[in-house]
Amino acid sequence: MKKRILVVSSANIDFVQNVKRMPSGGETVIEKGGYSYVPGGKGANSALAFARLGADTVFCTKVGRDDNAKKLKGLYSAEGIDTRFICEDREAPTGLASIIVEEDGQNRIIVYPGANGFLNENDVEEAFTCYPDGVFVQLEIPDNAVIAAARFAREKSIPFFVDAGPARQGFPLEELRGVEILSPNETECEILTGIKPDSVQNCLKAAIRLATVTEAKYVVIKLGRRGSFIYDGKYYNIIPAHKVTVADTTAAGDVFTAALSYAYLQKGEILEATRFATLAGAICVSRPGASTSIPTLKEIKAFAKSIKEAK
Ligand code: ATP
Ligand code: RIB
Repeated sequence: MKKRILVVSSANIDFVQNVKRMPSGGETVIEKGGYSYVPGGKGANSALAFARLGADTVFCTKVGRDDNAKKLKGLYSAEGIDTRFICEDREAPTGLASIIVEEDGQNRIIVYPGANGFLNENDVEEAFTCYPDGVFVQLEIPDNAVIAAARFAREKSIPFFVDAGPARQGFPLEELRGVEILSPNETECEILTGIKPDSVQNCLKAAIRLATVTEAKYVVIKLGRRGSFIYDGKYYNIIPAHKVTVADTTAAGDVFTAALSYAYLQKGEILEATRFATLAGAICVSRPGASTSIPTLKEIKAFAKSIKEAK
C-alpha cells in the first residue's frame, strides 16, 4: 500500500530571472536571460516530489483568493495531490518568491510569504484528519504551525520529518523533539547551531548539537555539491553528490529531503534513503526552475541505471 504523507508547508509562485551577474547597489543592468513564473514554494516543491515518487500526498498550506492560487491548485490536483487542506486567506495574496539565477546555477531568493504567513494551528489540526503515515514540515510557515504539526505527530505516534528551510535564528528547536529526520542545508545549519559545516569535524559538532536539542533519530546536513552528512546519534557517514551539469539549484533541498523522507518511510534504511535522495537532488539541479525540475520515480531509476552502466 502507498504511504500517505501529509506535507505541512508553503506554496508560492516563483518569479525567476536569469542573469549573467548580479547588479551592485544602485546599479541597473539589462539582462536578456529571460524570465518566467514557475510554481514553487518549499512545501509545494516537496509535495510534488512526494507525488512524483508515488506517495499518496496530502498538502496543507494557505494561499490567497487570486489567480495564482487557482493555477497552483490546478497543478497540484493534476499531479494527484490531495488539496482538501489547502486553506484560503481572504486578504493576503498567494506567496511570491523573487529568484535570481546566475550563470553557474546558483540562486538568490526573496520570499514574500503572503497567505503562507497565516497558516495556523487549527488548519494543521484539521489536516491531521487524513490519517497520515508520515508528516513532512518545513519552516516557510509560522512557527506555531510548525510546532503544532510536530506536536500532533508526536501525540499520534506518526513519524515526522523536518526540512529546516528557511531557518531563522531563535526558532525553538526543542519543540521538534522526537523528529525522525532533521535536515538543514549549510546556511540553515549555521543559523541554527552557529557552526559552519565546512569540515567533517564541524558537521559532526553541528549534528550533535541539533540531535541533542531535538532528540532527532537522524540529522542529515545537505552540503550542495559536496553531498550530505548523516549522523545517527553515534556514527556519521558522508554521501558524495553526483557530478552533473548544473542549470539551477532551486528546489534541490526540497526534493532531496522529500525523497529522503519517503524512501526512509518505506524501508527505514537511512543510508539507502540518502543515496536515493542524492540521485533526486542531482537530477533537480540539472534542470531549471522549481516544480519544473522535480524528477519522477521512473527518471530517478533511469539515472541510477545510467550511473551503474557508466562504471
Ligand atoms: P536549494 O538550492 O534548493 O536551496 P539546498 O541548499 O537546500 O538547496 P543543497 O545542499 O544545495 O540543498 O542540495 C541538496 C542535495 O542536492 C545535496 O545534498 C546534493 O545531494 C544535491 N545537490 C545539490 N547541489 C548539487 C550539485 N551542484 N551537483 C550535484 N548534486 C547536487
Ligand atoms: O527551495 C526553493 C523554493 O524556495 C522556491 O521555489 C521559492 O518559492 C522558495 O520558497
